[in-house]
Amino acid sequence: MATVTSAAVAIPSFTGLKAGGASSSSRVSTAASAKVAAAPAARLTVKASLKDVGAVVAATAVSAMLASNAMALDVLLGGDDGSLAFIPGNFSVSAGEKITFKNNAGFPHNVVFDEDEIPAGVDASKISMAEEDLLNAAGETYSVTLSEKGTYTFYCAPHQGAGMVGKVTVN
Ligand code: CU
Repeated sequence: MATVTSAAVAIPSFTGLKAGGASSSSRVSTAASAKVAAAPAARLTVKASLKDVGAVVAATAVSAMLASNAMALDVLLGGDDGSLAFIPGNFSVSAGEKITFKNNAGFPHNVVFDEDEIPAGVDASKISMAEEDLLNAAGETYSVTLSEKGTYTFYCAPHQGAGMVGKVTVN
């Protein structure tokens, strides 16, 4: 290593500084210069590993971000302002992306897909909550994954008349 070579060069100056006997001082200075030589190498190692850790952390953050963007979407049921709505009410997801509806305010709510406004061949009952099933408490969720591309309209059975309807486009 380069650090070992420079340590060997430093030995004579250490020997000159030491006032004791030649044999003992040369032993001490050798040990001291070995320590000096080790220090920069250790610092370099720490620096390198910190850099690695930083890179790993950054990579993890990016992949977590990508994962949350690509694979899941949260939709609030009911607005904080008391509105009876899906928030967002009109959105897009990728085929196979998980959509989680989360009870937020103004519940009970539920999520029912309109059998007349979903892609042909999709069974509305398989992606909907039953009309009579309700999310009654804050934070309760209903998740669905849509694999067929197209547009889907859904509503909240208790609040459909109040305009609590939503639309999702699966790409
Ligand atoms: Cu509702």
